[in-house]
Amino acid sequence: MKAKIQSIAVLTGGGDCPGLNAVIRAVAKTAINKYGLGVWGVEDGYLGLIEGRMHPLAYDDVSSILTVGGTILGSCNKANPFKYTARSGKRTRTKDLSDECIKLLTGYGVDALICIGGDGTMASAARFAAKGLAVMGVPKTIDNDLYGTDITFGFNTAVTTATEAIDKVHTTASSHHRVMIIEVMGRYAGWIGLHSGVAGGADVILLPEMPYELDKICEVVKRRSERGRRFSIIVASEGARPKGGKVVVAQRIKDSPDPVRLGGIANVLAEQIGAAAGLDCRAVILGHVQRGGTPTPFDRTLATSFGYKAIELLLAGTRNHLVVHKDGKLTSIPLRRVAGKIKTVPKNHYLIKAALAVGTSFGV
Ligand code: F6P
Repeated sequence: MKAKIQSIAVLTGGGDCPGLNAVIRAVAKTAINKYGLGVWGVEDGYLGLIEGRMHPLAYDDVSSILTVGGTILGSCNKANPFKYTARSGKRTRTKDLSDECIKLLTGYGVDALICIGGDGTMASAARFAAKGLAVMGVPKTIDNDLYGTDITFGFNTAVTTATEAIDKVHTTASSHHRVMIIEVMGRYAGWIGLHSGVAGGADVILLPEMPYELDKICEVVKRRSERGRRFSIIVASEGARPKGGKVVVAQRIKDSPDPVRLGGIANVLAEQIGAAAGLDCRAVILGHVQRGGTPTPFDRTLATSFGYKAIELLLAGTRNHLVVHKDGKLTSIPLRRVAGKIKTVPKNHYLIKAALAVGTSFGV
């Protein structure tokens, strides 16, 4: 017999994205409005659990946040409760603080934890679940790379932002007869690159899933130039790499569970294409602008349905699942099936086929 849920806590973990507030609102409003539950907000993701920072969330606290980007709870993409890096002076030590986190929650009378996050957040959520804490996951990330769900909220807004930027770069590329290389985020998955590249009418799209050949890219831009199309648009995913080569790493963040931060491929390509094709090239790195701003209507509705569904499933007795959108339906899968996996773009994806059919190159 499962313990009755009377009080829940909610946290937002990992990199932020548009729509987090919409989920917090849906979780808290459904919990309070429909079921009369107590709701707690954990500050700064798992770091708040480690440091004992959480506060009650009332109905009014989550009003007027549906359209606001970011997260009212704060987030953190470093703190891992199972391997927390504690510093004293120059020395660092890693500790497992997961039992203390569970004690904190039970001390406040919390019966279940809603974890809104990406793969790193879900990996810890699955470990908490294995220790007996009732957990529900909600899939967030602009990268759309979370395994088990067809779509994550935040992705649609990021693609919209990236596409608007590509449209703007298009006009200046045309005026100056330049090759413009626009770098988009996405880590090791090319979802943002593929969607914004197709939507922005890119001449070349580079994805992590399809390692490119520099010669093939140069052929495309030179051919365009010879035909009088004196500018070209290249959309490069930050995780794109040459055939047999490596990704470009911008930074390594020591105490992060995933220390590698990608970035800089656009600069590398601008130099290489400029030298090889003899054309004027510029790099535009969109960066964190893709994570900011107001969520699109699509993301607001997805986030609202995910938040609502998390509470519905919990109250119906489901535990330790991730809410997912699969084959057009809102459902859930066990967290342990998600941990340690990412969803990349399949090479036979319909959008790759469509892009190839209209003459877009993938540099292969
Ligand atoms: O996972 C979301 C994401 O924005 C990636 O697309 C990007 O590689 C990474 O986070 C950047 O992380 P940070 O905010 O630590 O720079």
